[in-house]
Amino acid sequence: MKKTILTGIKPTGKIHLGNYIGAIKPALELAKVEDYQAAYFIADYHGLTKIHDAYEFRQLSYGIAATWLALGLDPEKAIFYRQSDVPEIFELTWILACFSPKGLMNRAHAYKAIVENNKQADKDVDFGVNMGIFTYPILMAADILLFKTNIVPVGKDQVQHVEIARDIAESFNNVYGETFLLPEYQIQEDTAVLPGLDGRKMSKSYNNTIPLFEDEKKLKKLINKIKTDSLPPEAPKDPDSSILFSLYQEFAALKEIEELRMQYEKGIGWGEVKQELFRVMNSYLEQPREKYNELMASPEVLDDILLKGAEKARAVAAPFLKEIKKKVGL
Ligand code: ADP
Ligand code: TRP
Repeated sequence: MKKTILTGIKPTGKIHLGNYIGAIKPALELAKVEDYQAAYFIADYHGLTKIHDAYEFRQLSYGIAATWLALGLDPEKAIFYRQSDVPEIFELTWILACFSPKGLMNRAHAYKAIVENNKQADKDVDFGVNMGIFTYPILMAADILLFKTNIVPVGKDQVQHVEIARDIAESFNNVYGETFLLPEYQIQEDTAVLPGLDGRKMSKSYNNTIPLFEDEKKLKKLINKIKTDSLPPEAPKDPDSSILFSLYQEFAALKEIEELRMQYEKGIGWGEVKQELFRVMNSYLEQPREKYNELMASPEVLDDILLKGAEKARAVAAPFLKEIKKKVGL
């Protein structure tokens, strides 16, 4: 029996280089492991907690789908689907909701952070909180538990949600006997935290990102915006405290990295480093970008792939949901 490895990305923003290095690249590697059955999906219902513009929402969902495929996810091998195309997930969400203490949701970090901000701003504690945000972890538990997931590769911020999924699974199992598998999270500890334009962690919350599939011109412009100090070109520079160098290391070949390191030590102008960074990044991203643009221009192709994936997902989900419903007396 293969182990199931499952993860989702919610369509709430454009994928940036940090998401790629920290989440997508390692997940693509895991999908290639023979002992694993990968189930990767677009968590669109999770995205709806935030994005309330239909056109934007649809485009963001397609964008995530096209990103995975452009980077090489094989939809024949992985189960690749849109959450909203698998209604069994929502049926299970309600069942799980009836085993989820409200207090557990009160402690979920995203909700708690909003409450804290509201308190600071002297607003009603629940200001701006919809029930989608509040019950977010229950939907996520259903995503995970319905597929008897063994491993969930996620960023650190999602660990608590996987733990909540385990708690809910245990509450259910305690009443009806062994039903749900308890999932483990897997954090990509060894992947670098990619810095953004300003040197802080690249994040959509800091507005300092380089979107993964920005066109060449914009990519160049963004690279030119990366913060540097005012040392003159001939001055020796420290590669290990340089944002440009950190980024370079993720996209260049070993030999190129060593060469640039030597040039830093001898003295090189920031303009020249930026040109070199653009060259390697662009050549790395050129092909997937083309594929991405092609896919974005044919949403019917994306729909077709995702619907086929949803069929595969439902073939796994439906019989298990039936079993669960029987257990609770439905
Ligand atoms: P953002 O910070 O832009 O909102 P998310 O929190 O949605 O990004 O992160 C999605 C995934 O991408 C997570 O697994 C997270 O660990 C990873 N990730 C985000 N930013 C970076 C970064 N700068 N470096 C490495 N990984 C990142
Ligand atoms: N909550 C995750 C995030 O914000 C996305 C997600 C939804 C997810 N369902 C999941 C991740 C199930 C892993 C497994 O990044």
